[in-house]
Amino acid sequence: MKRVSLTQHLVEEQRLHNTIPAELRLLIEVVARACKRISYEVSKGALGDILGSADTENIQGEVQKKLDVISNEILLEANEWGGHLAAMASEEMESIHPIPNRYPKGEYMLLFDPLDGSSNIDVNVSIGTIFSVLKAPEGMDEPTEGAFLQPGTAQVAAGYAVYGPQTMLVLTTGDGVHCFTLDREMGSWVLTQSNMQIPASTKEFAINMSNKRHWHPPVQRYVDEMLAGKTGARGKDFNMRWIASMVADVHRILNRGGVFMYPADMRDPAQPGKLRLMYEANPMAMIVEQAGGAATDGVNRIMEIAPAKLHQRVPVFLGSKEEVELVTRYHTEQ
Ligand code: AHG
Ligand code: MN
Ligand code: MN
Repeated sequence: MKRVSLTQHLVEEQRLHNTIPAELRLLIEVVARACKRISYEVSKGALGDILGSADTENIQGEVQKKLDVISNEILLEANEWGGHLAAMASEEMESIHPIPNRYPKGEYMLLFDPLDGSSNIDVNVSIGTIFSVLKAPEGMDEPTEGAFLQPGTAQVAAGYAVYGPQTMLVLTTGDGVHCFTLDREMGSWVLTQSNMQIPASTKEFAINMSNKRHWHPPVQRYVDEMLAGKTGARGKDFNMRWIASMVADVHRILNRGGVFMYPADMRDPAQPGKLRLMYEANPMAMIVEQAGGAATDGVNRIMEIAPAKLHQRVPVFLGSKEEVELVTRYHTEQ
């Protein structure tokens, strides 16, 4: 097999499509290197000081795990000095992180969920890192929080790393979705899948069923019809999977189709869903759309939502196109 490294892939993409200027390439390579480091920490498990709680709370009111904090630090440190960024924002930090004055500033802004799937860290189940790249408004080298509030359609790149049996990096710069596998001996990312495509139809869904009693009627209807199987309205049997790490669930869907849902429910109208628009929904929506799938909040295309605040939460329905269209229709029909 001819091995194509991440660097070679990025250079060739730039030649072909002119979508990855040198600064963006540096950004992606630095993020990928940070993910390598996180993967290394993850793999140490109980042999490193990485498991368990950090005994602190993040801005979302969630108790932070040690690995949430470590991964956040790794990403901040790696991305500060390169001169490619104007600022960063993270799920784990209340406000944005400006680039320290001792470093030059660049035109990009990086947003991340440093460690996705925190509940799985201590039980050796796949977890990941999600990131999204925006451009700073023209001429603004010290962006404010407001500069980050751009819709997902403005993303110039998005990706995730999944720390599973293999460590993989899935990336889009707006020209399809490509997957790299970490060669641990060589320490390099090797292109292992180009132009990933999500099958348009599927027999698999992913949702946390324990919240069923709180769901709104369109979600109840959609899931009930799948559960009814062959003799029900859908006329086919469905299978269910829920890993509780969005990266791992989305990675399965990218490979063999499926629909992933984290709906809003009737518990707290002030908290529409669990997942965060800027660090989870937007980057995953870009990846899924680039792979031929769809992503909505039940009504609107996720990438067209105008964000009102950095840590905003949104309902998420994404994956195989026909299923996302159906559950979205059920929301608009009622
Ligand atoms: P995070 O670990 O970054 O807080 O994200 C966890 C998210 C997402 O990865 C996953 O799909 C979902 O929360 C799991 O939610 P449940 O605990 O309701 O299963
Ligand atoms: Mn997450
Ligand atoms: Mn997280």
